[in-house]
Amino acid sequence: MRSLVAGNWKMNGLAASLAELTSLKAALAAKAPVCEVLMCPPFTLLAQAAWTVKDAFALGGQDCSPKDGGAFTGDISAAMLKDAGASTVIVGHSERRQYHGERDGDVAAKVQAAWRAGLNAIICVGETESQRDAGEAHGICTSQLEAGVPAGATAENTAIAYEPVWAIGTGKTPTAADIVAMHGHIRSCLVRRLGEGARQMRILYGGSVKPDNAAEILNLPEVNGALVGGASLKCADFLGIIAAVKPA
Ligand code: PGA
Repeated sequence: MRSLVAGNWKMNGLAASLAELTSLKAALAAKAPVCEVLMCPPFTLLAQAAWTVKDAFALGGQDCSPKDGGAFTGDISAAMLKDAGASTVIVGHSERRQYHGERDGDVAAKVQAAWRAGLNAIICVGETESQRDAGEAHGICTSQLEAGVPAGATAENTAIAYEPVWAIGTGKTPTAADIVAMHGHIRSCLVRRLGEGARQMRILYGGSVKPDNAAEILNLPEVNGALVGGASLKCADFLGIIAAVKPA
């Protein structure tokens, strides 16, 4: 399985930021990465980004509607993302859950909408700090996976991102042992639900991945890549993370 390093610009990036993607394209052309690379800019930049990067690396959206189209003002369908040049969409990010009240049922419906449009889904799961302190981290992720990952998920159409909410944008990360334990737990849940094929499904880690901790995190057992927020905004930082992935 090839690792995946995915960037998520969140609500950052104007037209001038496309220069970062141009630099990334040039750097990846000069030195082919060991891993697959995906960048998820805001919707407004997606089509321009696709034009800029051509096929140098993959592009994705940060969310999509569970509906295929119609009178849903302000929403973006998976087909629109695909049409703009995306291959993938992030679904169920904790910021969507926190600020938009998304629940696991919404996440599952969005994942199915993504598949209908021919997109792959990155489904985010993860516990809050108080849930971890209460010893509920594994149980929370189990229930998010059971209700948020629809039947029909395969290693080809879906990846999971384990993102402890308390590690996102905070500079804090779990210990290596905690990451290994959680990724192993997620793997068992996936295999139990989806069968042996789920051993090939990527499980990404996300939450304060930076160039200086990437080598340690990305080469842990059952860590098949990273979902990177802040450190994906600057090409040099993102490249530092990509370079930390060792060949399988
Ligand atoms: P961060 O964000 O890398 O800025 O912590 C990760 C994420 O939210 O995907």
